[in-house]
Amino acid sequence: MKVTIVGAGAVGASCAEYVAIKNFASEVVLLDIKEGYAEGKAMDLMQTATLNGFDTKITGSTNDYSKTANSDIAVITSGIPRKPGMTREELIGINAGIVKEVSANLIKHSPDVTLIVVSNPMDTMTYLVHKTTGLPKNKIIGMGGALDSARFKYRLSEALECPPSDVDGMVIGGHSDTGMVPLTRLATRNSVPVTAFLSEDRLNQVSEDTKVGGATLTKLLGTSAWYAPGAAVSGLVQAIACDQKKMFPCSALLDGEYGLSDLCIGVPAILGKDGLEKIVEIQLDDAEKAKMKESAEGVKKTNGLLDV
Ligand code: LAC
Repeated sequence: MKVTIVGAGAVGASCAEYVAIKNFASEVVLLDIKEGYAEGKAMDLMQTATLNGFDTKITGSTNDYSKTANSDIAVITSGIPRKPGMTREELIGINAGIVKEVSANLIKHSPDVTLIVVSNPMDTMTYLVHKTTGLPKNKIIGMGGALDSARFKYRLSEALECPPSDVDGMVIGGHSDTGMVPLTRLATRNSVPVTAFLSEDRLNQVSEDTKVGGATLTKLLGTSAWYAPGAAVSGLVQAIACDQKKMFPCSALLDGEYGLSDLCIGVPAILGKDGLEKIVEIQLDDAEKAKMKESAEGVKKTNGLLDV
């Protein structure tokens, strides 16, 4: 199992580290445009192999895509990250060109690859990859919902004053400060709806904190987050690599599901060896449907800025 990660910045390197520690991939290639940077990150990570107990071989490459040949899965993290006060949408001008070029280079050397798009604005970048590469639609997946759901569960555990492992929940919709739709109605603590424990006001606060999860960290860190994004991507990579048939909310190209078409947006999906194997349509209530519709309008507005 060969995994390529394009962009050896904080998110890419963190993803490489989590993939390696989970020890399911034989090979991880980190690629970056900055001379020597991916090689340095790869060497540093390899020097943790005996400490962290993994056998995955991590190598680095400065923009030589021949080193990525025959990758099963490739993760695209390249592009510029958010600075404090910026929205993900503001990155589109620079990141669209980068993502288009990176995906074409990857496919040239790995025609059967499954791509996971992380670069922001993620839903629009995922749509761009669908529009420009010709890969089958199950082989292009956007990572957002897995991360947003992890942040949601963290905020719920904080409100419930319980360990995060007690909590289950999901965020669908666009990966943006206004587009996320945290499904508080369906979230549970050990199978008991969280609505049994938390007031509507507190749950609204949890939703709002979740939606600005990335922005809050960008403000604190001066750039966007990396541990949770890296861990979330590694979960998707593992589900595909190990054919787990695990369900994650992912940005998928919709064709009528949830009453939406011709956009990529976060919906629950089953991930396995064929990539995004199935979109799961769950029953939403009227308020959730309205939020999804509004979220989709926001994503489509950003897609309108693309030159495709
Ligand atoms: C975040 C970036 C990865 O939400 O979009 O932290």
